[in-house]
Amino acid sequence: MSYSAPEIIAAKRDGAVLDDGAITWMLEAYSRREVAEEQMSALLMAIFFRGLSSGELSTWTARMIKSGERLDLSGLSRPTVDKHSTGGVGDKISLVLVPLVAACGAAVPQLSGRGLGHTGGTLDKLESIPGWRANLTNDEILDQLESVGAVVCAAGAGLAPIDKRLYALRDVTGTVESIPLISSSIMSKKIAEGTASLVLDVKVGRGAFIKDFDRAHLLAETMVALGRDHGVATVAQLSNMNAPLGRCVGNALEVTETLDVLRGGGPSDVRELTLALARIMVDLAGLDVDPTTKLDDGSALATYHEMIRAQGGDPDAALPVAIQHESVLASRGGVIQEIDALAVGVTAWRLGAGRARKEDPVSAGAGVEVLVREGERVEAGQPLFELHADDVDHLASAREVIEGALRIGDDDVAPAPLLLARVD
Ligand code: URA
Repeated sequence: MSYSAPEIIAAKRDGAVLDDGAITWMLEAYSRREVAEEQMSALLMAIFFRGLSSGELSTWTARMIKSGERLDLSGLSRPTVDKHSTGGVGDKISLVLVPLVAACGAAVPQLSGRGLGHTGGTLDKLESIPGWRANLTNDEILDQLESVGAVVCAAGAGLAPIDKRLYALRDVTGTVESIPLISSSIMSKKIAEGTASLVLDVKVGRGAFIKDFDRAHLLAETMVALGRDHGVATVAQLSNMNAPLGRCVGNALEVTETLDVLRGGGPSDVRELTLALARIMVDLAGLDVDPTTKLDDGSALATYHEMIRAQGGDPDAALPVAIQHESVLASRGGVIQEIDALAVGVTAWRLGAGRARKEDPVSAGAGVEVLVREGERVEAGQPLFELHADDVDHLASAREVIEGALRIGDDDVAPAPLLLARVD
């Protein structure tokens, strides 16, 4: 059968279901640069409006995986399980979760990307630790998974390489927010990484990529089905991202908070979500261990130290601190009605903790400490946020956003649930 890009684009534009051959041909020809960027852009827009059936999506994702290598982790003596988060503000969960689940007996191959925009990246956070390196060879990944059980490192360019080109195109053509395109992008990389099972932390709310519960639920269902189709046992946990997670937003600040949680303290929401995801992961890995005991008896902290050292980092070294600090004070007394995770994320970004373009550097010490929680009663003049930056211009630009990040009123506010729904 012979195919042509204009016919495939027109068929999807008119709502047809593409056969496997058409999808395979289109993605392979695009990889060989025989389909032009404008033709792929048109197909992505047609998919944005018409969607993909579950069969089309499965084939599309399989071809994305086939565009690169697939790691083989089957020789490890430990069961493999990983976690992916759709991204939130103050989301340092992986830093606690990966060593915790490894301490429970699993191998956790967390191959990550860097942060872009208002959500921080796990690699950026770990890079604030002196000496720590994100780039490992495949052999180093396998060795560390066997010896320590925990790896957080940069996903090599070999995993689903077509996603890089498709994502760049989606970014400039208004086609990022398509559920089949998001699902295939995330799942192709996770499936190529070779994990046997996976938990997805799908964030919903003001500070999340998806603000609406029903759409987030549909995204979760779509990704869980894709995982199943490709032999990766997948469970999704939807979690609330209206307010930032924990107290700290920013690279080194979040590493410090991670250590608090690994030592048995830290904010209760970070601990609650970490343990909920850990229980799912331990279950998926077929292990009969209670993660709470491994967090409270210091085993997870010991594994964290081993994981950092194995990648050249010094877990005992002092972390970078920003030189400029400023407190944001309450203009009136009352009850904290809401803290807007998006505004806090943008503030941290303006302070220097995040990047606007892939190649930008990030400041290790910059960020925001959130000193109050929703529902808390405050006095006029009480500090609400502490801003950290390397230069005063960043502080001035951050101040414009942080002023609107929090609302004080007179009504009592019940704490919002963190765990919203589970999708199997
Ligand atoms: N993260 C990804 O890796 N891909 C998307 O499309 C969206 C979020």
